[in-house]
Amino acid sequence: MAARIRDSGGRAAAVRVDVTSAEQVESGVARVAEELGPPVVLVNNAGIIRDNLLFRMTEDDWDAVLAVHLKGAFLMTRACQTHMTTQRYGRVVNLSSSSAQGNRGQANYSAAKAGLQGFTKTLAIELGRFGVTANAVAPGFVQTDMTAATAARLGVSFEDFIEHSARQIPVQRVGQPEDIAATIAFLVSEEAGFVSGQVIYVAGGPLD
Ligand SMILES: NC(=O)c1ccc[n+]([C@@H]2O[C@H](COP(=O)([O-])OP(=O)(O)OC[C@H]3O[C@@H](n4cnc5c(N)ncnc54)[C@H](O)[C@@H]3O)[C@@H](O)[C@H]2O)c1
Repeated sequence: MAARIRDSGGRAAAVRVDVTSAEQVESGVARVAEELGPPVVLVNNAGIIRDNLLFRMTEDDWDAVLAVHLKGAFLMTRACQTHMTTQRYGRVVNLSSSSAQGNRGQANYSAAKAGLQGFTKTLAIELGRFGVTANAVAPGFVQTDMTAATAARLGVSFEDFIEHSARQIPVQRVGQPEDIAATIAFLVSEEAGFVSGQVIYVAGGPLD
């Protein structure tokens, strides 16, 4: 992806970090700052699923999911906020999910995604005075490796899973990564400076 951006005339660097490691996050963000300048746009997108009904959910299932989504977003935002507040400009977008409202087999994931909504609102309150906005995007069903893995776990083909899910969605289709990217692109734009602390469901229909 970085190569494609550079080939089309942009500036990009790809830095691999495990977002659950404070050390890797700090050094990764420092490298980005060195190579590209202060990171003033942060999208906390990293995520994993370890679905299971509560009685079968292990402590590892719980800890792993909470660590990547919640602790990862905390560590990344803490590392970037110094740059944002110094620049007196910043945009943070956290990936929540329609599962924040509850979803069978996802006690860990829904708790993390609901937690990210509270985290987002607190960032908006604390960082607003420095020109930093924070918002959450909460996708419904999006066709990615993550939903393919869910289909595999349920023992259904991805095509059938998509078709069945699309029938429950008001716009009668599942989401594509581009649907989510377009919403994030707006939230990180300069024009979105008066939108902060919001949770935007991008799910092909209404959710509270
Ligand atoms: N696909 C959906 O239907 C859907 C719906 C709602 C929310 N989301 C959220 O959107 C985000 C992206 O999901 P996706 O569907 O593209 O999933 P995906 O599995 O295709 O991609 C997740 C990415 O997170 C990265 N990642 C995982 N653990 C990491 C770690 N410890 N450190 C750094 N990176 C790590 C993976 O390498 C992968 O690139 C996630 O936060 C997910 O919870 C997805």
